[in-house]
Amino acid sequence: MESTRTAQSVQYTISRATRVEILEHFETCSGQFRPPLADRVDLPSYAEKLFRRSVTWEAWHQAKLVGLVACYLNQETQPVKAFVSNVSVLQAYRSQGIARQLMADCHREVMQRGVQEIALEVSAENVPAIELYSKLGYRRSASKGQDVLMQLILGTDE
Ligand SMILES: CC(C)(COP(=O)(O)OP(=O)(O)OC[C@H]1O[C@@H](n2cnc3c(N)ncnc32)[C@H](O)[C@@H]1OP(=O)(O)O)[C@@H](O)C(=O)NCCC(=O)NCCS
Repeated sequence: MESTRTAQSVQYTISRATRVEILEHFETCSGQFRPPLADRVDLPSYAEKLFRRSVTWEAWHQAKLVGLVACYLNQETQPVKAFVSNVSVLQAYRSQGIARQLMADCHREVMQRGVQEIALEVSAENVPAIELYSKLGYRRSASKGQDVLMQLILGTDE
């Protein structure tokens, strides 16, 4: 499935990125995560896992994957729960509302799939990301070492 629109020459899609495009995106921006993404995961394995098991929301500019949100849906729980595994926007494309747009698209779509609760984990020192999630309505639900668990209760789609 693919939904596209164009705003400020950035194009948004769902589940279009290939494993290779996801890996290239991470290789470009790994160092901008705190701590660097490559310190926490094996990038090729992580790209493969997201490609196979998550739903991805993508922002593109001139065929380059410039923003990526990846979300797992746990179909075994009732209601279905969702976990945002990744949110990233390449440095040159920051502060243009791309992450906000990708997250809003993600929330809308998972709500349509019956999800009422969405969670994520973020490093406590990642101020930009915590600001983003707080503005979107996420609240801290727990701490886990250096990480903060955040949760958003989505309205029902009725
Ligand atoms: C966090 C990140 C995804 C934000 O992407 P972005 O496209 O620049 O974010 P947006 O432009 O959509 O900003 C939305 C909101 O996020 C917050 N935000 C974004 N960048 C911020 C910054 N540098 N400092 C403080 N708040 C910031 C603001 O509240 C902003 O709202 P505003 O536009 O009303 O000011 C981006 O900085 C990134 O990719 N960081 C590296 C990867 C990472 O750490 N991901 C999170 C892992 S949990």
